[in-house]
Amino acid sequence: MLKNLSKQLFKIKDINSILSESHDPSRRLKRALGAFDLILLGIGAIIGAGIFATVGTAAAGDALRPGAGPALILSFVITGIACGFAALCYAELAALVPISGSAYTYTYATFGELVAWIIGWDLLIEYGVGSIAVAISWSGYFVEFLRGFGLTLPAWSTIDYRSAMHGFEKASALLAGGMPIDQLEPVLQRTYAAVNTAPHILGIPIICNIPASFIVLFLTVVLVIGIKESARFNMIMVMIKLVVLGFFIVVGAHYVKPQNWVPFAPNGFAGIRAGAAIVFFAYIGFDCVSTVAEETRNPKRDMPIGIIGSLIICTIIYIIVAAVFTGIVPFSILKTSLAHQKAEPLAMAMQHINLNWAAGFVAFGSIIAHMAVLLVLMLGQARIFFSMSRDGLLPPVFSKVHHRFKTPYINSIIIGLIAALFAAATNIDEMVDLTNIGTLFAFTLVCFGVIILRVKEPLKPRTFKVPFNPITPLLGVLACIFLITGLPAITWLRFILWLIIGLVVYFLYGIRHSLLHKKTRLTA
Ligand code: ALA
Repeated sequence: MLKNLSKQLFKIKDINSILSESHDPSRRLKRALGAFDLILLGIGAIIGAGIFATVGTAAAGDALRPGAGPALILSFVITGIACGFAALCYAELAALVPISGSAYTYTYATFGELVAWIIGWDLLIEYGVGSIAVAISWSGYFVEFLRGFGLTLPAWSTIDYRSAMHGFEKASALLAGGMPIDQLEPVLQRTYAAVNTAPHILGIPIICNIPASFIVLFLTVVLVIGIKESARFNMIMVMIKLVVLGFFIVVGAHYVKPQNWVPFAPNGFAGIRAGAAIVFFAYIGFDCVSTVAEETRNPKRDMPIGIIGSLIICTIIYIIVAAVFTGIVPFSILKTSLAHQKAEPLAMAMQHINLNWAAGFVAFGSIIAHMAVLLVLMLGQARIFFSMSRDGLLPPVFSKVHHRFKTPYINSIIIGLIAALFAAATNIDEMVDLTNIGTLFAFTLVCFGVIILRVKEPLKPRTFKVPFNPITPLLGVLACIFLITGLPAITWLRFILWLIIGLVVYFLYGIRHSLLHKKTRLTA
């Protein structure tokens, strides 16, 4: 019996059978995307909360880690190189196995069912938890943006319950110590107001992040309507964010003072490394391109172009933005301002040079950038579940395709509703680190996957090959491990807990419904 179990757990799915499943007309997606769409989709997923928001913590540091200072530029270079190794591996596998499941599907073909399940479950962190983080971050900037026009949403409707309570307790202690309310930091004033003004139902205060839920639900509708429509919507958003970042660079460059780059690395290598682990979030997304392989007209050619092209473009933009940002705002000011107010760093840089109108423009770009990321992350999540369901590891409802829109609509709706619920009730800081560790774990397995498939399937025609195999994939693995070790220990614990929950779900459902297992039994 144990022998049978281990046979199933490590049973590998043959590449030909993986490819043939996507031919079933009732579960086939529409092939509408070309190389240009893919590059835009990649940029859509990559440039968002990372460069517009987490870059501040990476430069200035926080209670848990030192800041990189101007050496943030190096943090971006290091992470860009690490992601480059992984992108090459993704490109090879996406062209070889152009199926919507991405890393999940590659793992099924290399490590077998159990590891495939683990990675599919893990990708739920990258795409699902990642989109919750981006939705919460979007909400923060959106609320600020509205405030710029004199529109203030009630405080209780723009924050999650736990953060509000935490801030309320802190504010109450300060007020009890005699501090006047108007001297409290703006964040504390808002949380204090949120708890005091919250409506009550059955004695329970209603405090939740309504804009974060709203944006998730709005994009769910876009995703249900169609892949081409989603790509078009994405294209407009990508153009806007590129214009805004271009604007930041061109305007900001005039105000750069080279003396602000000295000392270059105020916290030495420790700061650069912690910064690299944080800005990793800014790079997440190039791999999302691989999740639309089944909707690409010529995946064997266009997948590598989309994945590598979008990563290169974004890396160049990031490095220049980091140089301008740290060249405008001195490290000492960065540290004090970002520690006290969770300001939007790039907008803050514009305010620092007294260009308030430019700060508003950058904030607008940030809102749009967040939306594009969210759209692609949610799209990726639905495609992963689609593949897992087609394999029987998740219920069949997740791979049902709409007869007219040709999208996995029920899947998108379920994910949208769950994400909206969590976006209303959770806290962004916990989500970003978790997203990073989940993604790094997936990248590690994808890099290993290239090495394994080269041995197992040496003759399969590869339209794109990672150069210097196995050195490049191994460097990818080492780079990911390096970045994982830069994350706080609490994140590792949460991640392990998440994987354990996943295993429970697999042994309760997936193992009994796996199509691969059923087929094996029939042929045995
Ligand atoms: N890379 C994406 C962002 O920065 C996740 O928002």
